[in-house]
Amino acid sequence: MRSSWWRNAVFYQVYVRSFADSNNDGVGDLPGITSRLDYLRSLGVDGLWLTPFYPSPQKDHGYDVADYYGVNPEYGTLDDFARLVEEAHRRGIKLLIDIVPNHTSSRHPWFEAALSGGDDPHRTRYYFVPGRDDAPPNNWQSAFGGPAWTRLDGAPEWYMHLFAPEQPDLNWWNPAVPAEFRKIITYWLDRGADGFRIDVAVSLHKRRDLADRPLVPHRTTGLPTTAPGFEIIDQPEVHDVYRDWRHITGTYEPERVLVGEIFDPGRQSRYIKQDELHMAFAMMDRRWDASAWKQAIDVYRHAVSRSTSLPSWTQSNHDVIRHVTRLGGDGLGRERAKASALLLLGLPGQYFIYQGEELGLEEAFVPPERREDPLYIHTNGRHQGRDGCRVPMPWRQHEPNAGFSTAPPWLPTPAAWDRNAVDVQARSTTSVLSLYRRVLEIRRGLARRLPARMDWAAAPKDCLMYHRGPLSVACNFGHRPLELDQPGRLLIGSTPGVRRSATGLLMPPNSAAWLETRRSAGS
Ligand code: NOJ
Repeated sequence: MRSSWWRNAVFYQVYVRSFADSNNDGVGDLPGITSRLDYLRSLGVDGLWLTPFYPSPQKDHGYDVADYYGVNPEYGTLDDFARLVEEAHRRGIKLLIDIVPNHTSSRHPWFEAALSGGDDPHRTRYYFVPGRDDAPPNNWQSAFGGPAWTRLDGAPEWYMHLFAPEQPDLNWWNPAVPAEFRKIITYWLDRGADGFRIDVAVSLHKRRDLADRPLVPHRTTGLPTTAPGFEIIDQPEVHDVYRDWRHITGTYEPERVLVGEIFDPGRQSRYIKQDELHMAFAMMDRRWDASAWKQAIDVYRHAVSRSTSLPSWTQSNHDVIRHVTRLGGDGLGRERAKASALLLLGLPGQYFIYQGEELGLEEAFVPPERREDPLYIHTNGRHQGRDGCRVPMPWRQHEPNAGFSTAPPWLPTPAAWDRNAVDVQARSTTSVLSLYRRVLEIRRGLARRLPARMDWAAAPKDCLMYHRGPLSVACNFGHRPLELDQPGRLLIGSTPGVRRSATGLLMPPNSAAWLETRRSAGS
């Protein structure tokens, strides 16, 4: 039987630019990550996902790749990558890298060649399409605001970009494109990558007719808005690509894995398959409410078939507001975030931690003049952008820039950011970091006895409870303390207020607990 090291693994997302800076230039790098592997091992994670580290003009911080076979000089060299792989593997940590197949950078040699003249063959590797009079070829919009098309100076043609103009979309209908990506993934697998996180995974092929999205009046405002159910992406041919990649990853031992950037549960059920992707993200972004969380958990559980995969729970990444802030911010948000971590980490499936989550970091304020995110720039500030969740990691208290770098970091660290620092939290038994370390250790200890099945249990109002073999997990979403009549040994509470009473278990508001019961595995 194939080993399936990735099932139930805990992954840690490293936002390379902001994780650790080894050469004090204000920017994180690969040797920085290597120097922090012991920290990651002591946290107890099984694998890392590194955001793109390839040569790139950094118009979207690495999601604009100019060379898929190298390392951005700011981040190090191919030798640094080799060392990182070796040191991670020596510690039993797997390494997933980010692959960006939907678009290249406008500085990629293919696109530069395409711009060199109307009959350059590289044009057909992108979407160069004549406009309609002075208007773009269709009404598709860029995710960063404005039309998904930019006109070439003085030419009738426009090129497509579903993101920034510096990220032209590749034309996956041209066989040269899939052929190149087959080479790229093999290249990195041969260099020791254990798999890929696939950027905008369902978008590769665009609908062939490039038809306008139909517009319908908005339900409340009556303003024209795009009609649901009209797909410009997610074409059947995208599945052929992943069947091919799955075949390639399956020729390696131990198996290499494919994680799609797909959040929609309906789509997950079509892409996570025995012969396609291994995983996608079960993003938990609901308001703090027991029934909303139960529903979201069930939707994601049912999106995957247990025999093939399990959900990959996650609460934050480099594109969203940090969940401590989403859940109410400050002390309240942090208590809820600790409780939600326990709730999700007990479930069958993988868990993805976003760097700094284990420190309980909040979204940081980045002054407008320092913001770099293309989402902020291309919406002319209508969207605040994603810089606030990308502020560099605080490593040491009482040091400049919270110990990230002696040089000013690429995004400024807010005043008092260092009170969250790793060194302070490592010394405290009640810190968020200590909680994550302990819960991951307990999870590892229980792993063999935890079945792939969980069952909801009856619970008081505002409380969720489930059983998974010998583990029972309870979470109090309410504003009032609860006393649960629950036999079992308390393994861990999200806060010291969770404790046994003479008759049951006391749970303060916004808290969660893990209990060990005598139920057998599979029950
Ligand atoms: C998703 C990535 O997570 C995001 O950061 C990026 O801006 C877009 N894809 C475009 O590559």
